[in-house]
Amino acid sequence: MKKIGVLTSGGDAPGMNAAIRAVVRKAIYHSMDVYGIKYGYQGLIDGHIEEMEIGSVGDIIQRGGTQLYSARCNEFKTDAGQEKALAQLKKHGIEGLIVIGGDGSFRGAQKLADKGFPCIGVPGTIDNDIAGTDFTIGFDTALNTIIDAIDKIRDTATSHERTYVIEVMGRNAGDLALWAGLADGAESILIPEAPDEFDNVLERLKRGHARGKKHSIIILAEGVGSGIEYGQRIEEATNLETRVTVLGHIQRGGSPTAADRVLASRLGAKAVDLLRNGQSGKMVGIQNNQLVEHNITDVVAERNEINHDMYKLANELSI
Ligand code: F6P
Repeated sequence: MKKIGVLTSGGDAPGMNAAIRAVVRKAIYHSMDVYGIKYGYQGLIDGHIEEMEIGSVGDIIQRGGTQLYSARCNEFKTDAGQEKALAQLKKHGIEGLIVIGGDGSFRGAQKLADKGFPCIGVPGTIDNDIAGTDFTIGFDTALNTIIDAIDKIRDTATSHERTYVIEVMGRNAGDLALWAGLADGAESILIPEAPDEFDNVLERLKRGHARGKKHSIIILAEGVGSGIEYGQRIEEATNLETRVTVLGHIQRGGSPTAADRVLASRLGAKAVDLLRNGQSGKMVGIQNNQLVEHNITDVVAERNEINHDMYKLANELSI
């Protein structure tokens, strides 16, 4: 394989640039040509394709966002859209594609693989919701952004003796909330994977208050529901003055942590190796600090499970 393409798709994640850099440099190291496809699958359909050089990815390893831009593309979900994409790849002589993104992006890659075009997926999303990998690119940075925000909110929560509900991202997954809650000693964590916890949260709040506790932090994963509504329900049920912070897209930005840069570099380079070895329809991942590969069809069919021991521990430590 002599010419490959790379694109980023779906929600951007810190570390995507480090992954792009790894793909480009690893491919050039092996004397391949690399093409950057801008604006995800939409850019592929529309032909936003440019050759990348060693210098194209200089000075980006430390930057958040994605130099190749990203998009969510409905047209690519149709057969006609996929055929247009294949025609563009053929026109540029591209023989294999690396897709950096989440499960929606992988479904798209699988469509091309099913049509005989070699594709490899690299997991990039802050949500950490992809089966077959312990971590996705961007999760660690987003987690640290959340921790930084909670630490600040804790200062004012303590000063005013208030209860705070902090809504974090994660789509339908609770990993960001769970890890942030454990790392920040939150009083309660509400995640989609443990749907019946609300009454326990109220109980814990009342118990803590009766014991003299003056402030509390509750981390709510967005997949559970609206932080504003949960804040109102908590205030009504407990009579404790409650405030809500929805952290929003701040969680997706910022310079990637060392862990995300290293992960992205390893996964991006591994993806190039898979294409060189003639593989397709695979996702690269990391499990027990070892690089692994899985069929994309298996990865998207499976629900990524949270670590239930961690959830139990977080509850035990916030009695
Ligand atoms: O998948 C990443 C993510 O940030 C989710 O956590 C969130 O639900 C979603 O994307 C938000 O998407 P958008 O930026 O399109 O509003």
